[in-house]
Amino acid sequence: MDMTLARTDFPAEFIFGAATAAYQIEGAAHGNCGVSHWDTFAATPGNVVNAETGALACDHYHRFCEDLDLVRAAGFGAYRFSTSWSRILPEGRGTPNRDGLDFYDRLADAILERGLKPYLTLYHWELPAALSDLGGWRNRDVAGWFADYTEIVAKLIGDRMAAVATINEPWCVSWLSHFIGAHAPGMRDIRATARAMHHVLLAHARAIEVLRANAIPKLGIVLNFEHANPASNSDADIAAAKRHDGIYNRWFVQALMHGTYPADILDTLAAHMPTGFNDDMAAISAPLDWLGVNYYTRSILRDAPRQPWPSLEAVEGPLPKTAMDWEVYPDGLYATLSRLKRDYTGDLPIIVTENGMASDDRIEDGTIADRQRIAYFNDHLAAVMRATNEGVPVGGYFAWSLLDNYEWALGYGKRFGLVHVDYETQRRTPKASYEAFRRMLIGDSGTISLN
Ligand code: FCB
Repeated sequence: MDMTLARTDFPAEFIFGAATAAYQIEGAAHGNCGVSHWDTFAATPGNVVNAETGALACDHYHRFCEDLDLVRAAGFGAYRFSTSWSRILPEGRGTPNRDGLDFYDRLADAILERGLKPYLTLYHWELPAALSDLGGWRNRDVAGWFADYTEIVAKLIGDRMAAVATINEPWCVSWLSHFIGAHAPGMRDIRATARAMHHVLLAHARAIEVLRANAIPKLGIVLNFEHANPASNSDADIAAAKRHDGIYNRWFVQALMHGTYPADILDTLAAHMPTGFNDDMAAISAPLDWLGVNYYTRSILRDAPRQPWPSLEAVEGPLPKTAMDWEVYPDGLYATLSRLKRDYTGDLPIIVTENGMASDDRIEDGTIADRQRIAYFNDHLAAVMRATNEGVPVGGYFAWSLLDNYEWALGYGKRFGLVHVDYETQRRTPKASYEAFRRMLIGDSGTISLN
């Protein structure tokens, strides 16, 4: 079971990495971490499968050295991780938690000691509950709170980072969490959504200002994209797919790159937007050094005229699916990367910051034969290569995820890791996909590439 691609198919400077996020692996019960809105969301009946929480997760808080050894031993050159706002500032503001600062200080050194490039994300979703009480992403003040938190992290570890992203997946922070209600804070309200969709970008803008003032290099943001197809050739379904594309794919990148929101979506959302939002667009579109792209699947949309705006629903597609029921569609990654360069990012470097799949992995005779995952990685890497061969400046690729972990509202059942985690014993077992990456990146020689 190997990839058909070789390391030498990519430029020497192309970065291969593995990605994680704080709440999904650390164990929020440890180290005097503050309560986040994910803790309270998960404590609410019906929100998370099996009522699972991130309290213990992968116990990475105590096992990060072992976990980083695994990143290095696979031959990866970079590690993407996030700092938890609640661990650093248990009340969201005010006095930092000494244990939290120490943890990220030691983590940054441990990443560097292994010759890995640290890719930091400042917000991967665990908003301190104290700030949620004040309206969280609905409150314009969140931008200032986030900037103050950013300043603390910048001063603590900023100069040791290879690259820093402000926010992971603004669509999830706003739409998924305030309109669909599937993630914390679990709201379903269009006014809250419109505010969150703007404030998340304003918070990004304020954080970039702080990071620039602290001379932190290589600044970006991580957006998620989902290739959007209409369910039929009818005008109504084509328009439904366009609405989904506008909300999911165009809203954030158009604001960041061109300083405007897509007119077709703003038509409806304008009534719910915060007053004077246009005055923020210059700051929101300040230049970045790179864009992070998370890609997993496509969606197929049909018009649902009896539903309120955006009056659409997803239909099941015909392609093979992952354990998330997501279709495997590598061409969508190619199409996304090509479109980004053409319509939005031009020569701005792109890094694929997440790509991967969940499967029902089981240990049999001490091994996990996750063949579908190897093919998934191989085919998506081929899509990246196709885009780079056509001139899209993609500089790196991070597999999601290093470890099986807490898959948010779906709990621990959805396994995305290159490394299997037994949650009873916390034992780590590298899967066949981990070995396939290792053979691709460093062969059997054991030589570790530092790119
Ligand atoms: C992305 C998230 C990441 C993980 C993957 C499967 O949306 O950024 O934390 O949950 O999906």
